[in-house]
Amino acid sequence: MDKIQQLADLKKRMEEDKDLPLRDTATQLVFGEGNPDSKIYFLGEAPGFHEDKHGRPFIGMAGKLLTQTLEEIGLKREAVYISNVVRFRPPENRDPSPEELTAFAPYIDEEIAVINPKIIVTLGRFSMGKFIPDVKISQVHGQPRTVNYQGKEYLLVPMYHPAAALRATSMMNQFKKDFQVLKTLLEAPTPTKNVEQKAANSQDTQQLILL
Ligand code: URA
Repeated sequence: MDKIQQLADLKKRMEEDKDLPLRDTATQLVFGEGNPDSKIYFLGEAPGFHEDKHGRPFIGMAGKLLTQTLEEIGLKREAVYISNVVRFRPPENRDPSPEELTAFAPYIDEEIAVINPKIIVTLGRFSMGKFIPDVKISQVHGQPRTVNYQGKEYLLVPMYHPAAALRATSMMNQFKKDFQVLKTLLEAPTPTKNVEQKAANSQDTQQLILL
C-alpha cells in the first residue's frame, strides 16, 4: 500500500470507530491533509466551526493565518501536511480532555508513521504535550529539539497556536518569529545540534531542500 492508500485506510477506520469521542456532537471527521511525502508535519489541536462544516483542517481564521505565514517563509500549504490531535470538533471549541486526546492518539501515531516526516511542528500546547508533556509553551516555543518518538528521531518545533497569535500582537510577533526559525531549519543541509543557534543567526534565503 502506498502512503495515499494507507492514509485513506486510516481515515476509513477512524470514521468507522464508534468508540471515538466527540463523534455525536460533530458534523464529520476532519482528517489530515496535504502532501503525504512532506518532510514537515504540522499538528494542531482540534477542528473548529469551519473545519467541522467542510471536513478540512485549518480553514478558518487560524488556518488562514497558518497558510499566510507558511507562504511568508516560501512554503505552499499544499507542500506540507497539516493535521490535528483531535479529529472531531469539541462542542463550543472547548479544550480537548485528556481522555479525548488519549482516544485519538493511536491514530495520530499511525499517521505520523505513514507520513514519516523529519520535522514535527506542534501548534499549541495540546499537540506539544504529546511529545514534551512537562514543559510550558511560553518557555519552549520556537526552540527546535530532537525527540525520540515511537523509536524514531524527529526534529520537534513547538509553536504557539495561530488562534493565540490572532488574540494578541505579542503572540503574533512570536508566531512569525518562530516561523523564521522553521525557515532556517529547512535551509540547513542537515539538522545538527547547532541548528537552534543557526536558526537564530541566519538571514539567508536558500533552496528549501527538505521538500
Ligand atoms: N484549530 C486547530 O487546532 N485545528 C484546526 O483544524 C482549526 C483550528
